[in-house]
Amino acid sequence: MVIALQISSRELEHTKKYPNEKVISLGIGDTTEPLPEVITSAMSDFTLALSTHEGYRGYGAEQGNKTLRKAIAETFYRDLAVNDTEVFVSDGAQCDISRLQAYIDSSVIIGQAGDFQDGTGKYQNIEYMECGPQNHFFPDLSKTPKTDVIFFCSPHNPTGHAASREQLEHLVEFARENGSIIVYDSAYAAYITDGSPRSIYEIPGAKEVAIEVSSFSKLAGFTGVRLGWTVVPHELLFSNGFPVINDFNRIVCTCFNGASNVAQAGGLACLSPEGYKAMLSVVGYYMENANILVDTFASLGLKVYGGVNAPYVWVHFPGSSSWDRFNEILEKTHIITVPGSGFGPCGEEFIRVSAFGRRESVLEASARLKDTFLP
Ligand SMILES: Cc1ncc(COP(=O)(O)O)c(C=O)c1O
Repeated sequence: MVIALQISSRELEHTKKYPNEKVISLGIGDTTEPLPEVITSAMSDFTLALSTHEGYRGYGAEQGNKTLRKAIAETFYRDLAVNDTEVFVSDGAQCDISRLQAYIDSSVIIGQAGDFQDGTGKYQNIEYMECGPQNHFFPDLSKTPKTDVIFFCSPHNPTGHAASREQLEHLVEFARENGSIIVYDSAYAAYITDGSPRSIYEIPGAKEVAIEVSSFSKLAGFTGVRLGWTVVPHELLFSNGFPVINDFNRIVCTCFNGASNVAQAGGLACLSPEGYKAMLSVVGYYMENANILVDTFASLGLKVYGGVNAPYVWVHFPGSSSWDRFNEILEKTHIITVPGSGFGPCGEEFIRVSAFGRRESVLEASARLKDTFLP
């Protein structure tokens, strides 16, 4: 990601200029808390058993371990009629999104997406759905042209917005009217606290238009372990009546050889009653961090979004350049954030602050921000 490189180069310059200052990073969206032992011990037991004839396992099914597929269907889609045969275990959401997105990237590479326009930072033939406070972080669908595929993420990175039931009903209706397929990224679903839908399949009719991609990364701190899943409902058909699941199965079998069996053993432990409780307690810890950050920026008189249903806080500086605000915060408080423009043109007046961090760092960052910027 270009923005990550730009930020680390700014951080490097900063540490050279202020060698004695401790830099706090509220920038990177990576988890920091250790994994609960109930989860690591399951992975460790599985790994040790690989050294025995009885416990050794080689290739597994490309679609994932049957028991894990069942556990995912039962845990996250209990009342939503998702069958375990519709769940494909992956090595992470990003990997499955990019397998799906091969479609978009190949279009860009062969020129079908049109030219990249420097002024707007957009490809000519890709429709960008602008979302911000002005439209409650939901696109104006009456002005959105019909597309084959709609990528939609909720809770959203970087704004932290979780789409409401009503917003998602509009999205599903829009896709049904236009024959579009929604690729719905629910990687942060576990962070929802206000009753907003955690799955697109909570919306009636969604199974006929949506694929859902999700992950253990932010749910269980598996950013390094690597595990996710994708749901492709049997009801989702191309306009010629061909089931999308058959094509997805083909992509999975061609481009992938199954998630690591050690990671899948960890995933199963996450979904045991004890593992699930431990995992959600870590999610709760990050959300307490988010609360502290929301209160901090609000106390500075700023308009703050997110932080309620997602571990990201999206702070608005009307009329400002996001790099200017990033630089000012870094220069005066030695805190790293992310300039909103790194996520696209709509992020220009914002910075993203991540709640993934140790509590001591978040409290220290809060104190520095208040000391420096309190009016
Ligand atoms: C919205 C969203 N989806 C997916 C991912 C990547 O998930 P994974 O680690 O499972 O590839 C991220 C990572 O930050 C994310 O923010």
